[in-house]
Amino acid sequence: MLNVERAAGTDPIQRNLFRLLFVSVAGVLAPVTIAVAAIAFLWTPQTSVGSVNAGPVEDYNLLDMVLFEEGEFYLTRLPDRFLAINQRSTHMRCKVAWDAPSRQFISPCDGSVFDDKGEVVRGPAPRPLGTHAITIENGELIIEVGDENVRKRDKYDPGQGAEIG
Ligand code: FES
Repeated sequence: MLNVERAAGTDPIQRNLFRLLFVSVAGVLAPVTIAVAAIAFLWTPQTSVGSVNAGPVEDYNLLDMVLFEEGEFYLTRLPDRFLAINQRSTHMRCKVAWDAPSRQFISPCDGSVFDDKGEVVRGPAPRPLGTHAITIENGELIIEVGDENVRKRDKYDPGQGAEIG
């Protein structure tokens, strides 16, 4: 730790000026440091566009919720269809976390809550989590990923998922 007394010498005026300078620099640096840390936390690079093979349909049990970190989506099996839910919240793009006991997604940035289909339970998130197109090819689940493939929506509709044949 910096010793203000020694750095400023013994002159009281010089010592007070040094203290003022020290407090001023610290007062400017602290908010800048906090702002840089906040931007670094919230800044999110784009997910590359492409597709993810999530494996065979029969690998999933009813109401499973599986995170695919690479593609930034959760895949869930509903009674009659699969739904791929984008992991980025619709407010500041924070990655939501799945809370299995409550069967809800929670945004770590502001506590917004979404249900198991991605609809808003509690804001400030303005709209449901986005979805991704799913196709089932030869019994395998193919999910279109990347920011350009995230589909915005105002509410859940079964057509947003892929029906199990
Ligand atoms: S930052 Fe995630 S919902 Fe607000």
